This record gives sequence, structure tokens and C-alpha cells, in this order.
Amino acid sequence: MNKRNHLYLIAGLVLGIFLVFSCRHELLNPLGELDDIDVPGLPLDCDTTNFDFAEIIFPLIQNSCAVTTACHGEGSAFGDYTSFSGIKVAIDNGRIRKRVLQEQDMPPGAPLSECDQALLKLWLDSGAPGDGSTQEPDIVSCDSTNFDFTEIIFPLIQNKCASVTVCHGSGSVFGELTRFATIKNFVDNGKFERRVLIDKDMPPAAPLSACDQELISNWLDSGAPGDGSSDIPDQNQPADPGNCDPNVVYFEQDVLPILLSNCALAGCHDSKTREEGFDFTSYNKTVAKDFKRGRPRDTEMYEVLTEEDDDMMPPPPMAPLSAEQIKKIYDWIKQGGKNLTCDPGTCDTQNVTFSADILAIIENKCKGCHSGSNPKGNVLLTNYTQTRALALTGRLSGTINASGGFPVMPPLGKLPDCEIQQIEAWIANGAPNN
Ligand code: HEC
Repeated sequence: MNKRNHLYLIAGLVLGIFLVFSCRHELLNPLGELDDIDVPGLPLDCDTTNFDFAEIIFPLIQNSCAVTTACHGEGSAFGDYTSFSGIKVAIDNGRIRKRVLQEQDMPPGAPLSECDQALLKLWLDSGAPGDGSTQEPDIVSCDSTNFDFTEIIFPLIQNKCASVTVCHGSGSVFGELTRFATIKNFVDNGKFERRVLIDKDMPPAAPLSACDQELISNWLDSGAPGDGSSDIPDQNQPADPGNCDPNVVYFEQDVLPILLSNCALAGCHDSKTREEGFDFTSYNKTVAKDFKRGRPRDTEMYEVLTEEDDDMMPPPPMAPLSAEQIKKIYDWIKQGGKNLTCDPGTCDTQNVTFSADILAIIENKCKGCHSGSNPKGNVLLTNYTQTRALALTGRLSGTINASGGFPVMPPLGKLPDCEIQQIEAWIANGAPNN
């Protein structure tokens, strides 16, 4: 027998002994008595002295309950246990104690091990404390004086009601709660107050936390105001454009082009494929899933851009986003992930340079599809030389204008007029490297 088989045999034996031991033990100590037992009789390797939330309880809940969205994973309609605040809801309404320790029908496959139950019980009995690293402090300490729609109420509704389409996400048959106008319908017909604050049967998994209810109540009492910036319109009707402010990231001008040319490609995150449920073809769809306004690091679409392993997006052979593009997306989410558009004002076609104007257009609107080892249409557009070559053949002008029989580029929608005029001016000037 070689060394590895040896190890398997030993591991098997240890497991066998452990299983026999724990079954026997269950018979001796019916779990209903758990309330009365403290430590004695638990498996020898069960350390009940440490039931720290971050170290012990949180990982336990992640591995046993929050495995997938169908259970209590992120965005689950049955309660999201991926954060302290999500777990706390089910602690406060007694569900975790009831289902896991008393009725033991959760997790559905088999009850937790006796040791895990003991740890959970000790933690519950001690008041179910979280800690700095795992708590979401804004939720735990309730400030019900700030119930600004954009800042507080809208994110709350997005996370608790509109996170998935089967709830009130984009396109939901039960009514979307993805923008002020549609939320307002539910406020005006009284359903919002009735279901969330009176009957408390919405959200279906568990009522909102006391703090969230207080916030909603205060907001309703004050007349449920929205405001210009939070009245998030459809992609087709962006808010009235003002002049572009260099400190603001505009979804329409700055973010959407990056998404369309790097993420929303056919077979990836277009409306048809919706790989992993993500669709980046419009504003509403972009914010519909795993999107945390103001919290880029908790937002999936940002996280995957900075991932180092196989999860990194866009996946090879596509080129990764540039540091500048990643920062744009970060800043946009940080600024609240709003659907903003702006009017660039006058279009300067006199002083167009490759470095200041053309390169940015190519990088944000073409490079995603025209880079890497398998570029679309076999056309590379990653630097000056390639762009110039394309310009001189007339194919650049042909595609951006959709003229001369060329397909329109970018395929999901023409460039803004000003950018087309700037590219034309640069070509007319001899496509210089200036
Ligand atoms: C979403 C992906 C995508 C983006 C973004 C994109 N392209 Fe394309 N491009 C394609 C595909 C797919 C083809 C091949 C399709 C075809 O030949 O009909 C192509 C083909 C081309 C061709 C060759 C056309 C021909 O018939 O000779 C040119 C030139 C081109 N693109 C330029 C651009 C420019 C310029 C931009 C940015 C303004 C751009 N593309 C943005 C996907 C993209």
C-alpha cells in the first residue's frame, strides 16, 4: 500500500469513529435538552470557549446556510445571511433559534452537528454580538433622523425588495421597485405601508429590521419625497442634462460605453445571455443585481475587475480594463451609482489631438472588442499605429458613420455626434500622432 492510500485509510477510520461517536452521542443527549446542557458530553474536539462571531459563527453560517442564493446566499428571497445585519434580522425575529436549534429543520438536509449547535446557542445566549469587522455599523446603530431618499431609503429598498427580478427587481411582474416613480406608485396606493409596516409580510422572508422600519415610517410620514437625483429615470429618459462636471462620473457618458464594449458582448452579459444573471446593457439592468450603492467593494461588478484569479473580468483572451476605467467604475458606484447624464456643451473640433481626444474614445468604446488574442472582426484597436492604419483605409470613418456598407461601430449604438466629428477632424488632418 502506498503512502497516499495509507492516509485515506486513516482518514476514513477517524471519520468512521467520529460518526459512530456522534450518533451515539445524539441518542444519549436528545437535542431538545440542549437548553440545559452547557458543555459536558459534547465531542471532545468541540471547543465551546470560543464562539466569537467573526471567527467562528460567521464562517459556520456561511458554510451551512448562505451557500447559494436558493438558501440564504446573497440576495436570497428567504433572507440574506451573508452579512451580520442580514443574520441579525433572523436572530431578532427568533427564526434562527427556532429553526436551527429547536425544530432543527434548518439546514434542510441535516441539522447542524451537536458542536455547531452548542456554539450557536452560546452565541445567541450571549446576545448574538457582532463585531467591528463583520457588522455593518450604519445598520446596527440606528440613526432614524436621516431618511433621505437617495442616501438611505432608495438603497434600502434596492437591497431588501428589488435585489432580484422575482422580487421587485427590474422587469418584475409584481411591480418594479427600482426607481422613484415606481416606488411612488406603491406608496400612493398604500400597499407599501400596509405590507411593510402593518402586515409586515413583505419582504416575505422576514420583516425589515426595527431600524429599517423606523426609517421607512419616517420617510412615509414626511410625504415620501424623492429628489431630482434619486428619481432614477429609465435608461431611455435620462435626467435633464446639465453641463458636465469633471468631478462627477456620468453613467451615460463615462460608464455605459465601458460596459457596452467590455461586458455586454454577445455570449457574455448582453440581455440574451445574461451570464451569471448579469446584464450590462442599460442602467436599470446594471444596478439590478448585487449592486450596493456607495459601496464599490461590496459590489460584484467592481469586485471582479480587481480579482486576481480565474474570476477576473473580463476573462482572457479579452484585455483587462485599464486602471483608469476601473477607477471610473469605482468612483461611479462610490458616488451612489446614479443614472446621470450631462451635456458636454460645445464640440471642439479645432484642437483635436490623438492623445487628448481620440485615444480615450478608442480605449473606452472600441478596445474591449478589438484587443486581445482574438479581436472581433480581426481588427486590433489598441494604439496609435493601429488606429491610424484603420483611419487611412477609410474603415474607421466607414464604421463610425455606418456608411459605405460598413457595419456600425460600436455595434450597440453610434458614437455621440461630437466624437464622430472629432474623429473625422483628426482623419482630415492626416491622422497625426499628436
Ligand atoms: C461590442 C463589441 C465591439 C465594439 C465595442 C466595437 N466593435 Fe468593431 N467589430 C465588432 C465585431 C463583432 C466586428 C465584426 C463584425 C462584422 O464584420 O460585421 C467588428 C468589426 C469592426 C471593423 C471591421 C469592419 C469591416 O467590415 O471591415 C472595424 C473597422 C471596427 N469594428 C471598428 C470599430 C471601432 C472604430 C469601434 C469603436 C468606435 C468598434 N469597432 C467597437 C465588435 C465591436
